[in-house]
Amino acid sequence: MSATSLALLITIDGPAGAGKTTVSKLLAERLGYRYLDTGSLYRAVAFGVMTAQISLHDDIGIQRLLKDSRLMLEPVTSGFHLKWNDQDISGYLRTSEISMMASAVSAKPVVRDFLLDVQRKTGQNKSLVCEGRDMGTVVFPNADIKFFLDANPDIRALRRYRELTCSASNITLNAVSKDMRERDRNDRRRVIAPLIPATDAIIVDASNMDISAVVTCMTAAIISIFGDIPMYSIHETPACLEKT
Ligand code: DC
Repeated sequence: MSATSLALLITIDGPAGAGKTTVSKLLAERLGYRYLDTGSLYRAVAFGVMTAQISLHDDIGIQRLLKDSRLMLEPVTSGFHLKWNDQDISGYLRTSEISMMASAVSAKPVVRDFLLDVQRKTGQNKSLVCEGRDMGTVVFPNADIKFFLDANPDIRALRRYRELTCSASNITLNAVSKDMRERDRNDRRRVIAPLIPATDAIIVDASNMDISAVVTCMTAAIISIFGDIPMYSIHETPACLEKT
């Protein structure tokens, strides 16, 4: 296979606030690949459940909602545009309420089964960097290269807090830290697809690394396995625009 035709499927898993979103976007940009944020799919389901006022205990109601709704990932140059019943809901997905609800719905087999299909279809053509919690363990166990991006919980909470205050939210660091730890606990302890590194994942601890150092470390790992592949120059997203 020539270097120019190398279409890899790259997974990046890890807890909230580790920098997965920014790193995944930048890595995808360097490789000329698309980027898929799978957390936004769980957030979209959380949005649907909340809007339809379905109880979290009502698995049949949630199943019916998923069957009757349209969750669309429209390909755009760098990634995918997410729509729920033809509505662009991206502006509603980043509240702490939706974060907690997404973590809760993500423990439900009915939701995970539904999204498994969506994610696998999206990844079938490769040339993709996808981030989430179970990308390397469950969704794409045969991914070409897997990373697990982690960082100290205090550092993750501080990063997340800075992002939120960037958008003029009046939340406190304590509240952000508490929510994040609770979400971590839910995501790591759930029975299906818990947040754990795949056995063949490369673990990157970003506690003392900035975003560009993380991207450099990942591109070095990719080159060491697949040889010199074409890389494009990137522009970095300002910290206040990072998502996780
Ligand atoms: O990455 P995020 O914070 O936007 O994800 C929101 C929630 O979705 C997270 O708490 C757990 C869940 N999630 C998951 O269970 N599996 C994934 N692949 C991605 C997210």
